[in-house]
Amino acid sequence: MTEPATRISTDQAPLEIRRLGYSDLAHVLAVERRAFPTPWSLAMFVVELSKPSGICLAARRRGRMIGYLICSRYDAAWHLMNVAIDPSEQNQGIGTELLHRLFELAGPDSRLTLEVRPSNAGAIRLYEREGFMAAGFRRRYYHDNGEDALIMWRTPATLAGSMDDVPNLGRVRMR
Ligand SMILES: CC(C)(COP(=O)(O)OP(=O)(O)OC[C@H]1O[C@@H](n2cnc3c(N)ncnc32)[C@H](O)[C@@H]1OP(=O)(O)O)[C@@H](O)C(=O)NCCC(=O)NCCS
Repeated sequence: MTEPATRISTDQAPLEIRRLGYSDLAHVLAVERRAFPTPWSLAMFVVELSKPSGICLAARRRGRMIGYLICSRYDAAWHLMNVAIDPSEQNQGIGTELLHRLFELAGPDSRLTLEVRPSNAGAIRLYEREGFMAAGFRRRYYHDNGEDALIMWRTPATLAGSMDDVPNLGRVRMR
């Protein structure tokens, strides 16, 4: 990618957000293993990075990889597959900045969806603050503990406070 990196100044050293490459994957795996109890494998990241239409971003501070985001394009929607910030760097606005960069790259009328564990209150708060709305559940989606997944969408309608353009709303039951 030739586009310039986004630099965000915080009270700490500047945050740099740029496209994720294969050479970042060792650091991505290290963060992934610290951030999740059931981390993705290297192969899963390679598959996502190999998709030409995906948006995969890395956040660095002082040259150190501290977070990343993986988003895939399916039909007319973007699917946020993975986002994680190193536990030592969470709650400093880095996840928010990665999402903002994704929204810029996906475009103003983009439609984004994701699955999140209902127990992941911090992530759900972040997504809601960024315009995602809960649209239903996928039953027993997570294999490690059989937890359901909460499905969320961010669309032009959810940004205006309705769910008029959220697909398959009736097909996934809300609890
Ligand atoms: C979920 C996750 C990606 C969020 O990333 P993050 O960088 O911690 O998120 P942010 O810092 O942007 O926002 C989180 C909170 O920090 C607060 N915050 C942001 N900047 C801040 C700052 N400078 N100082 C203090 N707090 C700040 C935000 O207001 C927000 O508050 P909230 O808890 O009331 O919602 C991260 O916690 C993570 O990697 N979790 C483990 C993996 C995971 O669950 N991924 C999501 C799977 S669906």
